[in-house]
Amino acid sequence: MEKFARGREQGRGRGEGEGEREGEEESDLLKGKILANLFYEPSTRTRLSFETAMKRLGGEVLNLYSTETSSVAKGENLADTIRTVSGYCDAIVLRHPREGASRMAASLASVPVINAGDGAGQHPTQTLLDLYTLKKEGLLENLRIALVGDLKYGRTVHSLAYALALYGATLFFVSPEALRMPEEVKMDLQAAGAAEAEAAGAAEAEAAGAAGAGAGAGAEVFETSDLSAVVKEVDVLYVTRIQKERFPDPAEYRKVAGAYRVTRGLLKENEDLVIMHPLPRVDEIDAAVDGTKNARYFKQAFYGVPVRMAVLSTLLGAGGERRREGEEKQGASKNARGNRRNSGVGEEAPRTLRERTADDRE
Ligand code: CP
Repeated sequence: MEKFARGREQGRGRGEGEGEREGEEESDLLKGKILANLFYEPSTRTRLSFETAMKRLGGEVLNLYSTETSSVAKGENLADTIRTVSGYCDAIVLRHPREGASRMAASLASVPVINAGDGAGQHPTQTLLDLYTLKKEGLLENLRIALVGDLKYGRTVHSLAYALALYGATLFFVSPEALRMPEEVKMDLQAAGAAEAEAAGAAEAEAAGAAGAGAGAGAEVFETSDLSAVVKEVDVLYVTRIQKERFPDPAEYRKVAGAYRVTRGLLKENEDLVIMHPLPRVDEIDAAVDGTKNARYFKQAFYGVPVRMAVLSTLLGAGGERRREGEEKQGASKNARGNRRNSGVGEEAPRTLRERTADDRE
């Protein structure tokens, strides 16, 4: 990813400084390849950064960004659309309101499917750019991070929590009672820590314990509704929007709308706090925070381009093709798991952390 991230390191918009565009990588790596963006839900960052990434790599992009102007409006189901579009492109990026949609699509498509968000499920490429942002800030190891807001319906925090567990992060889940992190995710995080300790063996587990929560040690998790109580405890606040569109009852949304608001006043409690947000935001981060040294969310959004360039080049570049050919050969014997000719990026956590840890030991 580093090689795609030169220039505009500050993540500023075009025209906000001198020479930000200089040094940005462009390549012919994916010349002749076509990416299909199928977005059944609104998107700005994910769709446009995938499109930018593909074009910077010399490829081309097809877009289905409105269900009203495609045959979805005539009643075509997702399976038929996926089977059809597979024939038009080399990879599909899918955003869909239904959890598990990408997994289903990956089982039907003849090309790789990348999950760009499946309902309240997962958003794995967002997690990659979140991790990349943390890495660039030197915060990925021994991280103490609060995931704040809608932890029930927020797909970004589901994917991010799984990933941070692999780095031994200490996680603070901050949400209204009604929007707690799903129990299944919390159980997976607990189980992953236990499974990894077991896999590492007693001696290594002892060493890891002595060193604190190091990489691969699983996650320590705390849960609260009180944001002010954790501000001094963490390095990063990862703030999320309350996902209004996912509430079955608008009255329930109104009860929790505006539950948290990050202001300059809050930052006085911890001046080094890094503020991240997958965006879009509504009112959970005051605009006055944007100009502070704490704000990272626009830089974070910028990293969507180099990170997705890395995803696409891994999947569709020469190495990706060789890897898929190898996996197809292996696939005959591992067919029961399905979807393996598609990149792991295309699966929206089809296996829990517990299952993945077990698989890795095979
Ligand atoms: N972070 C994110 O998924 O943004 P979009 O909904 O704009 O794609």
